[in-house]
Amino acid sequence: MLKPGTILITGAGGFIGAALAEHYLAHDWKVVALVRKVPDGKRVGVSYHQFELRKPIEATLLRGVDVVVHAAYVRSEQAPDAFRVNVGAATTLLDAALGERVRRLIFVSSLSARPDARTVYGRQKHAIEQLFLAAGQTVIRAGLVIGKGGVAEEMRRYLRGRRWLPVVGGGDQPVQSVSIEDLIKSFDAVIAKDVAGVFTVAEAQPVTLREFLLALADASGARARPVPVPYWVVEAGVRLASLTGLRVPIARDSLLGLRDLRMAEVRPSLERLGIDVRPFWASLRALGDP
Ligand SMILES: NC(=O)c1ccc[n+]([C@@H]2O[C@H](COP(=O)([O-])OP(=O)(O)OC[C@H]3O[C@@H](n4cnc5c(N)ncnc54)[C@H](OP(=O)(O)O)[C@@H]3O)[C@@H](O)[C@H]2O)c1
Repeated sequence: MLKPGTILITGAGGFIGAALAEHYLAHDWKVVALVRKVPDGKRVGVSYHQFELRKPIEATLLRGVDVVVHAAYVRSEQAPDAFRVNVGAATTLLDAALGERVRRLIFVSSLSARPDARTVYGRQKHAIEQLFLAAGQTVIRAGLVIGKGGVAEEMRRYLRGRRWLPVVGGGDQPVQSVSIEDLIKSFDAVIAKDVAGVFTVAEAQPVTLREFLLALADASGARARPVPVPYWVVEAGVRLASLTGLRVPIARDSLLGLRDLRMAEVRPSLERLGIDVRPFWASLRALGDP
């Protein structure tokens, strides 16, 4: 069992940040929640502070903090300067936290983190990972997180009532997911064992993108038929939409991400952390109805 301390979470109003805040609060930790907008209904035991990635963090917020989880990020589809903003914010957060002698910093990264990633998202994750690792800190590369919120839930809602299921780029791309509960176990293990380095946290055996989408459609009650769509068709559609100001359900960076999907080796990380990650089907079942 983890000895309680004080945990500061950036992006504490988001899907993963909020789940972590709930978890540590339930385990008697003091939670410092950094949020863009302080909620009206505050949770007892949580101290909320307004936080903006484009502004330097106030160092006093980090005083007495044992663990920092950095989960906030600006999406590239919302900001053309997302790379600069996200890397800059991580740099100032690290400097301030190390200055205040925070024991453990954990960056929430992704399986797509690579220096040569096609996406801004993957390249920025890699750049921030390097900062955390150079400082002797910890990176958790999460698979696609399944829980009440996040991308999988958004897709499940989107698919509800649809008759056609666009499967982009052939559908054989590998998808590795992790339930929010298993992901939280990896944070517990990093904190309890006080370990640095990169940990890849996802199911060992991927499902194909086609299987993934069909299962999500099925779980949302949709009787959607898969329709193969080549990348170039969607890419042209996304470009046209951006020129005409139309909203489309997929951003250009996410589309590029679908081309970049590769299977990640997870076993060494899970063994080192001493945790298991359930397969996608079990994560989806645990989710219940949308
Ligand atoms: N979900 C996944 O499947 C998955 C997989 C791998 C890695 N990750 C990583 O996990 C982290 C959290 O993801 P998530 O799924 O929880 O996403 P999310 O729900 O969109 O949370 C992102 C958080 O960032 C905050 N944020 C956005 N712009 C900000 C700004 N300018 N200043 C301060 N805060 C800002 C958001 O604040 P508001 O609440 O005000 O919007 C939100 O709380 C991200 O780094 C993501 O890359 C997620």
